[in-house]
Amino acid sequence: MHNEFPEYRGELEYSCLGCGKKFPADELYYTCPDCKGVFLLNDKKFENLKEIPGKKWQDIFDQRTRTKKNALRGIFRFYELIAPVVEEEDIVYLGEGNTPIITSSPTLTKKIGQPLAYKNDGQNPSASFKDRGMACAFSYLKFLVRKKNWGQVLTICASTGDTSASAALYAAYVGDPIKSVVLLPQGKVTIQQLAQPLGSGAVVLEIPGVFDDCMKVVEYLADNFRVALLNSKNAWRILGQESYAYEVAQWYDWDMQGKAVFVPVGNAGNITAIMSGFLKLKKLNIIDELPRIIGVQSSHADPVFKYYAQEPGKRRFAPVKVSPSVAQAAMIGNPVSFPRVKALVEEYERVGGPGIFNVVQVEEQEIIEGMLLANRYGHIACTQGGECLAGLIRAKEAGLLDKDELAILDATAHSLKFIGFQQMYFEDSFPPDYEIKPKKEFINTPRQVLGEQEKKTLQGREFTLEVGNRIVEILGLSKKEG
Ligand code: F0G
Repeated sequence: MHNEFPEYRGELEYSCLGCGKKFPADELYYTCPDCKGVFLLNDKKFENLKEIPGKKWQDIFDQRTRTKKNALRGIFRFYELIAPVVEEEDIVYLGEGNTPIITSSPTLTKKIGQPLAYKNDGQNPSASFKDRGMACAFSYLKFLVRKKNWGQVLTICASTGDTSASAALYAAYVGDPIKSVVLLPQGKVTIQQLAQPLGSGAVVLEIPGVFDDCMKVVEYLADNFRVALLNSKNAWRILGQESYAYEVAQWYDWDMQGKAVFVPVGNAGNITAIMSGFLKLKKLNIIDELPRIIGVQSSHADPVFKYYAQEPGKRRFAPVKVSPSVAQAAMIGNPVSFPRVKALVEEYERVGGPGIFNVVQVEEQEIIEGMLLANRYGHIACTQGGECLAGLIRAKEAGLLDKDELAILDATAHSLKFIGFQQMYFEDSFPPDYEIKPKKEFINTPRQVLGEQEKKTLQGREFTLEVGNRIVEILGLSKKEG
């Protein structure tokens, strides 16, 4: 049974959050053709899924963890909840999803004073959570290419680095007729992130400015020319990213009581998807309770925090001008998915009650030290994962959590992608606008045991003994007994 491809096919439609209009999902839309509002994709037949009891769904999804069918090994383990229109032959699987949840090291837990765990989404194929959404978007694209017999498809995205790495990877794997183009803010993507689309053979374009500037350009291109937009404005990306919520729930045996999920917020696609995912599980009685959701933003890029900090009923959304942030991947002043967040938070609070959703703001110093602290205790958090830990500390101080509530932190990318910021901290080389002053306790640097010149004077065993004895001195080693 776990090896059978699901029979269920849904009827997906785009639902505009601006004017409320609906459009059938047999075409690739990014925004509403009438009002340019953003879309969510809904399954018109979703109610039919309720005929299967929640417990049965749990069994179905649990059984599928044993599958050897490529199409069901990744995010499409939750096929019926994601994009139940694509066929098995369309599904692209590159090893995304199923990322481990690692309970915090006991010392870190004690230090923070709250149970916590990291979900390591940096263990996805392109080393960030974006692969979840990209697997879905590319599977749908393959489905369309096959159905419509398209000749050539140029995919395009703006990116702070991870979306482009992911899009380029999937495009490279799928190959003809799909070709990837990415647009990056020059100097605001790490060298590791830049290397990824280059290595995958994408066309890499750079412009001066920040992500928000790139986003406007790709929107213009997608509105007027034949390109497929792969930013999370593309609602198929959101569907794939819902798998994060499904995996969290499944890992905890579908019991989300007493749990809080922390999410760094940039373009706001991830937090949208995670809330949407948990809501679907609740509607199908797969979980009994929604977890608390806590969004985290840097004070250098905090439009969503600022919105929710206003009094309910009087809230006005205003984009912000960003300043340099070590959580660079989330350094976005005008998040494309904000209307989705707003709509989903209303629903989330209606179902889960007040206090179930919060956004906290953290400082740059706290973000980088959040990452350094986590990684000191055996985690592999990126700066955005560090932002989550900083957010947890902030939420705890603000009394937003129950005493024993388990905090699940999203390490959205692998630490190695952002390791240059660690280096800047260790070398105290941050430009002033980052507002980061390194503390001695977090700094670690290599110690040179022997100089190049000294090495030349030492031969064979002499060299080994000299170096060995210097290390004995550095470490204060005592001799073995007997
Ligand atoms: N963490 C990482 C590692 C990211 O790459 C991003 C977004 C975020 C968090 C924020 O997630 O945008 O869904 O709210 N990166 C995008 C990109 C914008 O272009 O790679 P979000």
